[in-house]
Amino acid sequence: MTSLALTFLTQSAARAELALERALPTPDQLPQQLHAAMRYSVLGGGKRLRPTLVYAAAAALGVDDPELDLPAAAVEIIHAYSLIHDDLPAMDDDELRRGKPTCHIAFGEAEAILAGDALQALAFEVLARDCHWSPRAQLAMLRLLANACGSLGMAGGQAIDLAAVRQQLSLEQLERMHRYKTGALIRASVLLGALAAGCEESSAPFAALARYGHELGFAFQIHDDVLDVLGDTEVIGKPQGSDSARGKPTYPALVGIDESRRLACLHRDLAIEALAGFDQRADVLRALARYVVERES
Ligand code: IPE
Ligand code: IPE
Ligand code: MG
Ligand code: MG
Ligand code: MG
Repeated sequence: MTSLALTFLTQSAARAELALERALPTPDQLPQQLHAAMRYSVLGGGKRLRPTLVYAAAAALGVDDPELDLPAAAVEIIHAYSLIHDDLPAMDDDELRRGKPTCHIAFGEAEAILAGDALQALAFEVLARDCHWSPRAQLAMLRLLANACGSLGMAGGQAIDLAAVRQQLSLEQLERMHRYKTGALIRASVLLGALAAGCEESSAPFAALARYGHELGFAFQIHDDVLDVLGDTEVIGKPQGSDSARGKPTYPALVGIDESRRLACLHRDLAIEALAGFDQRADVLRALARYVVERES
């Protein structure tokens, strides 16, 4: 694992934690149980890869700015909501997340559904807060995040995932599922950082970063499937073997572990290649691409 990726990830995780704490309702506000469930699922856990990508994409364009904390928090809040719903009995029915009981186990199913709903709304409110970006850039960011988590992004991918339980998908269908359910939000994380750094949607660097995020997100989910087979519950913080136990469509199930690893590395390389036009300020993004397919959790 490259120390560049780990150092940047550690610093970004600490920065994101503060941004998330500021973004969330305080625990004393009513309804207290709902706010407790939201805070339980967002704070104090996770790798914080998506906020890290916001900061790293801006850094690749030579920008650091306190207001990057807004898209960084927004994208992680959407991710946390997606995890709460993903773990529900009606979806993956998992009881462990980030090393602790899932939200519905700790707070009950109804509260978990509502915590997810409220987090989704909160993410857009955070991204719409007063800031120094142009209204045009801010609207582009809102649109980007909405597309990434809607029916053509995360929610759509989750629908494909659920419809495919105990079914055999083609490689093409499985790729689409992974790119939607996980890739879209990872790509959006990169592009939110680019937009916040003033990058125009029609520019060549924006297209290159979109390509990077697209390939990175796909590699990330293939490796997530591999960790479900080879990972250790203690380390991954979620139940190892959950996918095969539930007959989920995954890369290891369809093509085996070796081919899954090869594909993850291939798409890591495509992600890195997309950054060919960037200087050393994109080294963190390059290192993060390597991290994504080497990580143990
Ligand atoms: C898990 O994402 C869910 C997927 C999209 C595969 P992460 O592996 O980023 O989970 P945390 O945030 O580190 O817990
Ligand atoms: C989840 O995919 C993708 C989401 C949109 C949350 P998984 O179901 O594989 O994620 P884990 O393995 O439970 O984290
Ligand atoms: Mg799932
Ligand atoms: Mg799951
Ligand atoms: Mg998984």
